[in-house]
Amino acid sequence: MQSFIIFVIVLGFISPCLCTRLNVGTKGSNNSVMDNGAIGDGKSDDTQAFATTWSNVCKKGGILVIPEEKSFLVTKLHFSGPCPGKIHIQFDGQIVAPPKETWKSGESLISIENLKGLTIDGNGQGGADGDGSTWWQCSDCQRPGIFHFHNCQDLSVSNIKITNSPRNHISINKCSGATFSHIFIDSPQTSPNTDGIDISFSSNILIEDSNIKSGDDCIAINGGSSIINATRVTCGPGHGISVGSLGKVRADDQVSDVYVRNCTFIGTSNGGRIKTTPGGSGYAKRITFEDIILDNVKNPIIIDQRYNKYLELDTDVSISDVTYRGFDGTCEGNTAIDLDCSPDGCHNIILDQINIESNQPGKKLSVICNNAYGTATNTNPTVSCLLS
Ligand SMILES: *[C@@H]1O[C@H](CO)[C@@H](O)[C@H](O)[C@H]1NC(C)=O
Ligand SMILES: *[C@@H]1O[C@H](CO)[C@@H](O)[C@H](O)[C@H]1NC(C)=O
Ligand SMILES: *[C@@H]1O[C@H](CO)[C@@H](O)[C@H](O)[C@H]1NC(C)=O
Repeated sequence: MQSFIIFVIVLGFISPCLCTRLNVGTKGSNNSVMDNGAIGDGKSDDTQAFATTWSNVCKKGGILVIPEEKSFLVTKLHFSGPCPGKIHIQFDGQIVAPPKETWKSGESLISIENLKGLTIDGNGQGGADGDGSTWWQCSDCQRPGIFHFHNCQDLSVSNIKITNSPRNHISINKCSGATFSHIFIDSPQTSPNTDGIDISFSSNILIEDSNIKSGDDCIAINGGSSIINATRVTCGPGHGISVGSLGKVRADDQVSDVYVRNCTFIGTSNGGRIKTTPGGSGYAKRITFEDIILDNVKNPIIIDQRYNKYLELDTDVSISDVTYRGFDGTCEGNTAIDLDCSPDGCHNIILDQINIESNQPGKKLSVICNNAYGTATNTNPTVSCLLS
């Protein structure tokens, strides 16, 4: 009995230590930028403190903590691997951009590259502001973006807020396996080229439960991308979700297996769009837009194979196996469905369960097809121009 009591007492002492140990073992120790000299007053340059903290965390593992209720002015953050272990960034504070003159022109504010298994998680309040208004007026400036992810595998980014980018807010290039969830992006409708999320040469990317307001594409899916999903994303203002533009400057662009589901477009200029430029090659295939809610969208369903038609060339990016299913809501323009395909045609376009009405009572919406092959079922407005 006595030995049992001693056993219980000893266990009582040991187990908290065990738990703490285990916790440290799995999650790593905290490395706050504050412990490496960051000031966090939004005015002092904290770039070096972040570089030091990153270098420690990359070498030894652990959590890089950007603490809440502080703002950090940086000229450039470069979180670059490879690192021996998986890194976690606790993104609770705010990164603020430097004045335009000290921002390295053309370079993203935060570059994250060559990493495997990186997790970035915030408290929903932290993130980055690009102070874009100082850039938007300047049309010949090389305007930079905010987050740039390059060569990442098995990436997870959640609960962060990105505002007022000079250019795109997030770009994802050469990444495979990434989930972005609860991302909040906010730039004014009038800000030029402020794409929400740009994806290129990447695969297995999921964007979910996010809200994107911007002056350009909500999400743009560019060449070299496959298995790209957007689920429960609300877009608007902005230009909607776009595959492309593909084939620019005679590029060979390939995009396949895109699934846009349960997304909402509010006051956007497009809903589900595929755009290609004459003269390019490659394909856009197996693209699905499904269960979409429209609220005053100008071009809800649009395929545009004459995008930026600056050259009269006879090659084209081919478009096939495109499904628009379950669209419901209002159109602000004249044309609910616009399928403007090149002479080679778009093939196997499926329109199903579409109910799009004008936002002006009684106004009839039009449907345009050029060289579009496929089938339409249960659509309002009626689609009778598809070729079979
Ligand atoms: C590590 O940082 C996180 C996020 O700021 C905090 O919630 C947690 O309490 C910290 N852990 C330790 C051991 O300081
Ligand atoms: C995307 O959706 C497709 C079709 O439902 C699914 O097979 C695939 O696993 C999803 N991929 C990601 C990365 O979410
Ligand atoms: C889409 O929304 C419907 C209705 O709210 C829900 O039943 C379904 O599970 C959702 N699907 C996804 C993939 O979010």
